[in-house]
Amino acid sequence: MTVAAPLAILSALGEEQQGLMGELTDAQCIPYAGREFWLGRLHGQPVVLALSRIGKVAAATTASALIERFGASRVVFTGVAGGVGDGVHVGDVVVGTGFVQHDMDASPLFPRYQVPLTGRSVFDGDTPLTAQLLQAAQVALADGGPLGKACVHQGLIASGDRFVNGREESAVLVSSLRAAGYAPLAVEMEGAAVAQVCADHGVPFAAVRTISDRADDTAHVDFPQFVKDVASLYALRIVTALAYSLSK
Ligand code: ADE
Repeated sequence: MTVAAPLAILSALGEEQQGLMGELTDAQCIPYAGREFWLGRLHGQPVVLALSRIGKVAAATTASALIERFGASRVVFTGVAGGVGDGVHVGDVVVGTGFVQHDMDASPLFPRYQVPLTGRSVFDGDTPLTAQLLQAAQVALADGGPLGKACVHQGLIASGDRFVNGREESAVLVSSLRAAGYAPLAVEMEGAAVAQVCADHGVPFAAVRTISDRADDTAHVDFPQFVKDVASLYALRIVTALAYSLSK
């Protein structure tokens, strides 16, 4: 019997996948590279669930394992982010259309933000998979989320090895990116690394982030509770809707 290549579902933290784990059928855990990879099915769709951990290197390691060791056919990241775009509020959702590393700077050898030797600053989400994820998010949040109305945005996500936790820091980060022609809606710590690994392997990638904070001075305060209470529910609803649409 041939088993279809699984859809990989990646999150940074265990809390973000809590709900999804409960829905997994035929579950099997395979330890690899110091991580746990959970194979199984969601709505009949073969999946592999994994935690990236936090930061770009950890996320790149996990993404490589998902592709090389587990044969992932597509990678979807679901997690939280700080909202930095105008009108992007806590409780909203951002589906990434492109991913940039806000802390990549090999200037003057290469333009700021460009990943050396790739000629690229932005790694795009896969167009069809991103469209399906956007639709899944819209369906899943049509009646709002635990915090009420939840807007679903789509746009650029900026990643870097920093938890952005200050109004001024956030403003500088955004204005520097804007000056280079990039207008991020959200900031997080893994997406652009996973997008780059997926691009290297020619594997479709898409990501959705629930906005947990505004990357300002209070960003860290409600973060743990938000991840536990809200983000896990959003991930469950959105990925369930995605798995359902992929299985049709
Ligand atoms: N993930 C959630 N909020 C974040 C922030 N403010 N900075 C970086 N990553 C985040």
